[in-house]
Amino acid sequence: VEGQSIQTIEGIADGGILHPIQQKLLEYGGLQCGVCTPGVVVAAKALLDQNSNPTEEEIRYWIAGNLCRCTGYDKIIRAILEAAREMRDGAAE
Ligand code: FES
Repeated sequence: VEGQSIQTIEGIADGGILHPIQQKLLEYGGLQCGVCTPGVVVAAKALLDQNSNPTEEEIRYWIAGNLCRCTGYDKIIRAILEAAREMRDGAAE
């Protein structure tokens, strides 16, 4: 990764303002542990940075690397879909 930019969970929020993905995960209860949640947030942001209108299938594929057996993924997927919609709506303003 020499010469490349790396974004971690610490760089996602804007000061005290959560990124829309983080906010929607809170609102939808799409939270996992302190390892899985940052992974989902960073992966979802990478997806939405290149595809502002992903399908549910695309989101499921994209976050598939964050495997755990602690929860289902429905709330997480709904949260990411809603964050994408909100970000698109915000971009249109
Ligand atoms: Fe992190 Fe299951 S929520 S391992």
